[in-house]
Amino acid sequence: MWRKRVLVTGGCGFLGSHLCERLLGSGSEVLCVDNFYTGTKDNVIQLLDHPHFEVMRHDVTFPLYVEVDEIYNLACPASPIHYQRDPVQTTKTAVHGAINTLGLAKRVKAKILLASTSEVYGDPEVHPQTEDYRGRVNTIGPRACYDEGKRCAETLFFDYYRQHNLRIRVARIFNTYGPRMHPDDGRVVSNFIMQALRGEPITVFGDGSQTRSFCYVDDLVDGMLGLMAAGDDFTGPVNLGNPVEFTIGELAEKVVAMTGSKSEIIFEPLPEDDPMQRQPDISLARRELGWEPKVPLEEGLVKTVAYFRDLISAA
Ligand SMILES: NC(=O)c1ccc[n+]([C@@H]2O[C@H](COP(=O)([O-])OP(=O)(O)OC[C@H]3O[C@@H](n4cnc5c(N)ncnc54)[C@H](O)[C@@H]3O)[C@@H](O)[C@H]2O)c1
Repeated sequence: MWRKRVLVTGGCGFLGSHLCERLLGSGSEVLCVDNFYTGTKDNVIQLLDHPHFEVMRHDVTFPLYVEVDEIYNLACPASPIHYQRDPVQTTKTAVHGAINTLGLAKRVKAKILLASTSEVYGDPEVHPQTEDYRGRVNTIGPRACYDEGKRCAETLFFDYYRQHNLRIRVARIFNTYGPRMHPDDGRVVSNFIMQALRGEPITVFGDGSQTRSFCYVDDLVDGMLGLMAAGDDFTGPVNLGNPVEFTIGELAEKVVAMTGSKSEIIFEPLPEDDPMQRQPDISLARRELGWEPKVPLEEGLVKTVAYFRDLISAA
């Protein structure tokens, strides 16, 4: 039987591991490539015995020679704590990683998807953000290695599309959460849950009135698969995220209530360049992909809290 051969870079990370699982479930052969910078083999441990799954330790800043039909390029640390630890390497991963995976896609004529980010909009003056908004990014700030790295990766994708007729897809992913997030990545959902479960104070940066929209991982993976399966005339960029907005203060209260924690909520100064509001306009994804998120925040949080509870009790 013919099986689609799919490469997932960053496949041992949070999103990548869920994507690998879904691809295997739909009958594809999956090659998961990762340098284990933020991802771990534990995230794919349940897949290691699968006959159509393979993990390869590899850094995407170096070329890769494999035969595949589709490429999902997810390799890149995604949380500010991780991507700011070695900012030069972050830019290299985003930019050289794009060049290397695009080069591979060109050689083997594979379709290729970029996991881009809402951070390409920077600290936006337009709400909600539509794909034609060009963003307000600080080129020299501490977040620039990630934001500008991803912007350059998008540029490379579109140049390969125009210059070499590559079949590209660009997904601009907004805040996504769920099981297998890194417990110490400092992202707001994992942070609040871990603090609540450990009985530590819950740290809200700013006054808690800044808003975010949170997409559950299963919904996001549906969106990525739908985008890859769309017609080749649809390249994106397309926003994938949940448009329902919550304030950070509301999220903190929900987490406290859901975990039954006695943690108090404390307030600390906002980090540099932290956006006040982030909300995707997903009209394009609805229209072109027939996609929209289905999992409400409460439901996704229950599964995420259960994951972190297990993680703490296994430690
Ligand atoms: N989770 C989100 O909310 C979100 C939002 C926007 C964009 N994204 C994008 O989605 C992708 C996956 O994010 P995630 O949340 O799963 O993050 P993650 O940190 O859990 O996963 C990233 C994976 O890439 C690997 N990696 C990093 N540098 C690498 C390199 N040079 N070579 C090979 N592997 C490397 C890491 O080890 C890790 O397994 C990233 O590209 C990120 O920018 C995620």
